[in-house]
Amino acid sequence: MGRRLLLEHDNVPGIETIEVYRKHGGYRSVEKALKTMSPENVLEEVQKSGLRGRGGAGFPTGMKWSFLAKPEGVPRYLLCNADESEPGTFKDRYLMEKIPHLLIEGMITSSYALGANLSFIYIRGEYMWVLDILEKAIAEAYANGFLGKNILGSGFDLDLRVAPGGGAYICGEETALIESLEGKRGNPRIKPPFPAVKGLWGCPTVVNNVESIAAVVPIVNDGGEEYAKIGLGKSTGTKLISACGNLARPGVYEIEMGITVEEFIYGDEWCRGIANGKKLKACVPGGSSVPILPHYLVTKTAAGEDRLMTYESLSDGGFATGSMLGSGGFIVFDEDQCIVRNTWNFARFYAHESCGQCSPCREGTGWMEKVLHRLEHGQGNMRDIDLLAEINKKIEGNTICPLGDAAAWPVAAAIRHFRDEFEWHVNERTESQTRNYGLAKEISFAR
Ligand SMILES: Cc1cc2nc3c(=O)[nH]c(=O)nc-3n(C[C@H](O)[C@H](O)[C@H](O)COP(=O)(O)O)c2cc1C
Repeated sequence: MGRRLLLEHDNVPGIETIEVYRKHGGYRSVEKALKTMSPENVLEEVQKSGLRGRGGAGFPTGMKWSFLAKPEGVPRYLLCNADESEPGTFKDRYLMEKIPHLLIEGMITSSYALGANLSFIYIRGEYMWVLDILEKAIAEAYANGFLGKNILGSGFDLDLRVAPGGGAYICGEETALIESLEGKRGNPRIKPPFPAVKGLWGCPTVVNNVESIAAVVPIVNDGGEEYAKIGLGKSTGTKLISACGNLARPGVYEIEMGITVEEFIYGDEWCRGIANGKKLKACVPGGSSVPILPHYLVTKTAAGEDRLMTYESLSDGGFATGSMLGSGGFIVFDEDQCIVRNTWNFARFYAHESCGQCSPCREGTGWMEKVLHRLEHGQGNMRDIDLLAEINKKIEGNTICPLGDAAAWPVAAAIRHFRDEFEWHVNERTESQTRNYGLAKEISFAR
């Protein structure tokens, strides 16, 4: 059984209450940090841990914290990004629903390190029942002296608020989140300035994912070096993975970074293989924004090495033969799934969610959706496949925020690995036919 640092107690009855949570060691990191450590000490531990942001980009958390500007007399803010709207990703919801105090504890310890006296959890607008769970837990934390004035007699004050999101995927982009929290439409800001210098209400701000903030709890409890011993290379610690699609046992799992993808898909402890004895066709390992991998690149890299659940291994081969760990939304497709239909489905999402600020994204995502709709419905032509690639190039790298890239990459990867299936949709498919072409043919990557 792998080590579980975050979800160790997820099935303990009553763990959502402060009483049971404390019986299982809860709030130790707050006591340790506020009574025995300076804010700088906490930062050092986070730096030593090698923790990388769990929201998708994998940026080192300690480094992000060290960039926070500290002008005299200006408030600083910690914002927890709980917007979680990426298709296939539902790990943050699980953590907040099951163990809300873990996030609150992480928020207190992290706010102390950053010198923030007012912090927010910005939660996806559709997660209203989770918002209620968090508010109840926050009230308990206030009542037990972990929030409010002079916490545990340390002189540190912290107020924690939960803010419901604006109901759009774009509000998860950190600067759009800030705009939304300020009461405006959630449009991403042009950077620089980065939030660490000019964030919420123009003040220095750190935005971190739910899981990143929760991970600060074991890091402070056990020390950054202990945390860094788990995992592999620059992928330290554990990672929450939301596994879905055609798996025998989908769910939210906490893995030690470095286990093989094969173990994760087929292992008894994890997903127990493909549902109904079917064959694996493809996998999107990090949420809908990352490139799809055909079956022969899921468990092995192009060089024939075991593919591991790490940032490095999942991106081995770049976008030619690799993908990304992303937000940990692990989506599996069996042999009966249609790649063109799935690509169209994702494209519909991005076309709907583009905020419309940048023309390449606003227009490009809409065009991609229309072209993919044609192809999926047996009305496309060969030129459409190249047209998709062209639209892709026009979007990629040409927008204020990475939503455009996130829309373009999956389409490019689907065509790269499943071009035959796209062509079959043009040449053979009629509206009444089964949508699936079969498994991708293996391509040799001999170097
Ligand atoms: C369109 C879009 C949506 C995003 N949605 C989320 C989200 O729901 N949750 C999240 O943590 N990060 C999301 N991000 C990434 C955030 O901008 C930011 O990088 C992240 O919250 C930083 O936290 P971390 O360093 O702890 O990973 C999104 C980015 C983009 C471009």
